[in-house]
Amino acid sequence: MYGELHGKVAVITGAATGLGLAISLRYILEGMNVVGDYVGTLPDELADAAKKHPDRVKFVEADVSNEKQVEGLAKTAVDTFGDIDIWVNNAGVEKACHTAEMPFKEWKKVLDVNLDGVFLGSREALKHFTKNKKKGTIINMSSVHQQIPWPTFAHYAASKGATEMFTKTIALEYADQGIRANCIAPGAIDTPINAKKFSDPKQLAQTESMVPMGNIGKPQDIANAAAFLASDEASYITGTTLFVDGGMTLYPSFQHGAG
Ligand code: NAI
Repeated sequence: MYGELHGKVAVITGAATGLGLAISLRYILEGMNVVGDYVGTLPDELADAAKKHPDRVKFVEADVSNEKQVEGLAKTAVDTFGDIDIWVNNAGVEKACHTAEMPFKEWKKVLDVNLDGVFLGSREALKHFTKNKKKGTIINMSSVHQQIPWPTFAHYAASKGATEMFTKTIALEYADQGIRANCIAPGAIDTPINAKKFSDPKQLAQTESMVPMGNIGKPQDIANAAAFLASDEASYITGTTLFVDGGMTLYPSFQHGAG
């Protein structure tokens, strides 16, 4: 737990499930004010948290790829809590498709949510930070696929590679104002995005074999990283990616001295 996070205001996109939900619950536990963005239905865990802490939790329905709705999300955060300290661009989508057969609209959909969403959210955070001379923090959810090519997910890998470079660029652009921007790159984490894959024991075992530590990660592993990057203990860290992947990016095929 990081005492200095108490009372800070965080906006988290895609807060209703998986990693966004875990980060929201962790931030609530840290005593932060949380504005959770979602599309669709609000899960019971979040609705309960909002009921339990009505003065510290607010949920807003907003499509991260829609400029007006993201502007509205930022406005709601400021209207409700008077400030924004941390903005987590977590919302993301993926869908397998061979590149030769990929409909343009599938490509657009993934880039719209995963990259436009990161830009629109970051821009709202940067507007607020610069206008208020605030040393705020942006955390962008990337993936090990900012680094590892992933056949049939060219759109997804492209969006995450671009997220890394976008994050490094804004980190440099605003470093002299004390604003930090970093990525978290999860490996294989047990969330709804992987539910189908990990419910098949064969596919689960195959993924585990690609993780040197031998097991898939938990959403809490990512929430821990998001709490750290938001905290003062990360105050000298900007423009980097924190890989939370059990070693997936360490060329696992070399693990036992092969090659
Ligand atoms: P998830 O599917 O549970 O979460 C994605 C969330 O984004 C959902 O709540 C969904 O409603 C929301 N979302 C989708 N489109 C949206 C839109 N247009 N506007 C607002 N929200 C929208 O999956 P998970 O795993 O929690 O994914 C979170 C992030 O982590 C994504 O960016 C994903 O690419 C990334 N990631 C996840 C990994 C994993 O193994 N679970 C690995 C690497 C990266």
